[in-house]
Amino acid sequence: NMNMNIAIDGPAGAGKSTVAKLVADRLSYVYIDTGAMYRALTYMALQNEVSVDDGEALKKLLSDLKIELVNKNGKQLIYVNEKDVSEEIRHSEVTNKVSYVAKHSDIRKEMVYKQQQLASGGGTVMDGRDIGTAVLPDAELKLFLNASVDERARRRHEEMISKGFDSNIDVLKEEIRKRDQMDSEREVAPLKKADDAIEIDSTSMSINEVVVLILSFVEERK
Ligand code: C5P
Repeated sequence: NMNMNIAIDGPAGAGKSTVAKLVADRLSYVYIDTGAMYRALTYMALQNEVSVDDGEALKKLLSDLKIELVNKNGKQLIYVNEKDVSEEIRHSEVTNKVSYVAKHSDIRKEMVYKQQQLASGGGTVMDGRDIGTAVLPDAELKLFLNASVDERARRRHEEMISKGFDSNIDVLKEEIRKRDQMDSEREVAPLKKADDAIEIDSTSMSINEVVVLILSFVEERK
């Protein structure tokens, strides 16, 4: 079996998506951004004035949505009902509400089902919060990517500034802290390192160092 599934979990801003994308490219695997799926539903809830606390209404909304992850020219795009919402789902309004949406067990059940379908043929790198613990408990390689909250806020701040956005590092740090707390303390599939996951603290590592390390774990398992 050559095409394994690789699960990458960890707190907000640890660099999961950057690293997952690069690892997937190197292995010619498919990158699956599960956070984007929760973000897409959150974005549509805000658009349609559906309360993020109303599990029933969210479930109804989700049943009307076709959420697709599309790889176009090396870019990871997300479509909802044929509309490209890749940029919108990164806005801070969505970021600061998504953990409320992700608390609902019915919503998670649907999302997990879709994610398991996407990974059923193997050859994926999937990142999120509950991949190693709930979505792909049999993944051949599980990683838990971490970094100090200061470092995660600093990286996010640099990214915002480089894109020409206003940014306040203290506000970012508080938002990250709050989102991690909600994700870690929720009842259903909280953010948690799987027992058999390898923890990588990237606080003082470069992106390339993390990628090389992960590829070495992949080689060991081939
Ligand atoms: O990874 P990203 O920061 O885009 O995830 C956004 C939010 O989606 C997380 O803070 C979490 O609330 C939720 N999420 C989740 N389970 C996943 C992926 C994301 O609950 N597997």
